[in-house]
Amino acid sequence: MPHNFKTKTTQCGHSNYLLPNGPKTPYLIRFLLSSFNRSKSLSFEERRKLYGSDFTLKLPMFGKCLVVSEPDEVRQLFKADPNEIGNPEPNLGRLLGGGSLFAMSGEAHRRQRKLLTPAFHGNRLAEYRDLMAEEARVGMAAWPEGETVASQTAMSTITLNIILRTVFGVEGRDLHALRDLLPRLVKAGSLLAAIPMPEWHLFGYAPWGRFNRLRAEYDSIVTRLIQNARADPAIDQRADILAMLIGAKYDDGRFMSDSEIADELATLLVAGHETTASTLAWAIERLRRHPEFMDKLVAAVDAGEDELLDAFIQEIQRTRPTIAMPARRVLVDGYELGPWRLPRGMTIMISIPLVHTDSRLFEQPYMFSPERFIDNRADPYQLIPFGGGVRRCIGAAFAHMEFKVVLRTLLTEHTLEPTSESGEAWHSRGIAFGPADGGQIVRYAR
Ligand code: HEM
Repeated sequence: MPHNFKTKTTQCGHSNYLLPNGPKTPYLIRFLLSSFNRSKSLSFEERRKLYGSDFTLKLPMFGKCLVVSEPDEVRQLFKADPNEIGNPEPNLGRLLGGGSLFAMSGEAHRRQRKLLTPAFHGNRLAEYRDLMAEEARVGMAAWPEGETVASQTAMSTITLNIILRTVFGVEGRDLHALRDLLPRLVKAGSLLAAIPMPEWHLFGYAPWGRFNRLRAEYDSIVTRLIQNARADPAIDQRADILAMLIGAKYDDGRFMSDSEIADELATLLVAGHETTASTLAWAIERLRRHPEFMDKLVAAVDAGEDELLDAFIQEIQRTRPTIAMPARRVLVDGYELGPWRLPRGMTIMISIPLVHTDSRLFEQPYMFSPERFIDNRADPYQLIPFGGGVRRCIGAAFAHMEFKVVLRTLLTEHTLEPTSESGEAWHSRGIAFGPADGGQIVRYAR
């Protein structure tokens, strides 16, 4: 499982670099093989068996990448100096704009995070709790009783409403329009993030044309919301993120421009609802297949206890992470990582699923056992669903609170019908991974 030194190391054309082995088949062939014959496509776990915990892989847009899951190296990467290990290129800034945290590196990234962080502090989070519970209650009441529903879609409606209200505060016509627009924008953007596409527009019909058209619609609605907020005499009393960003100043005293705010809000709206909906759908998928655990969890939630619910959420995120590979880029030549020496510009992918199924870190890693986290604090460099270091997900505490509030509402007000069907497969939704059949749910009012 650790480095497999029996495999030949590649000298990368220059004797100063040392890289692990990996599959040689070009990406396009691998993609076609996996589309036509799944048994011919190697899973990451099979690659780990063949090549060890690190291997190289050719990926579209990034070229030859290093996939890493060796624990000490993962820790080193998350703690690395941002001048040596930086943001990947290309990154989600292509879709979200230059004002997005995802687009920034080094000092610009540090300054921007400083501006956003207060929105996710404990006292702010507490203010979002009631609106989360209200949206969960209203959303679930609309689910048909006793019928099979794809919980991923149903949860997306709830999580989208939660993030829209958190970001913009009050309801209104513009929020209504965004509620309709954002799922289409995310769908179009996810396609472009996952597959390299030529930047053809074809009068708005090609994928980039369609995405840019939707983004222009987003910009016109959000610019109006920003201008209304700037003119609001009661802005100081508002608790929403837009109001906070309008009042926030960079270290040099400068306020954010409209376009910087629009890019950052797009980032929070996009990053903050599909991911949480996928995790909630996985929670339902797992609960229905572990009825004994579900009974225990319902009893704990009824008794107002949090420990088992927290452990359950951690186990869902360990066994079913929704983001697979946060990426980094080597900024200095000959960067040393474990036994490897890497060239400047190389992309490193940290494989969250491989870290989470490393038997050196988690006993019986393929077993679903939330109890493993009771009285056992997870190491933040080993349980990494939110990535780590200076780029760790800024919405992690928000997401955790949302999971707790939504699951508590679900379990106190509804019962879930267990199922003996086999587990749903992992399915890529572009950026996030969710259950292949949408995390099917059958629920009754309690
Ligand atoms: C299941 C829920 C979520 C998961 C699994 C998740 C996962 C991640 C991961 C893996 C990263 C990259 C971290 C890295 O590179 O080390 C990330 C970054 C980010 N996430 Fe999340 N996320 C979730 C929810 C949210 C929410 C609710 C928000 C906002 C409200 C959010 C906003 C962001 C932002 C802005 C970044 C970029 C941070 C930076 O580059 O500094 N995420 N997230």
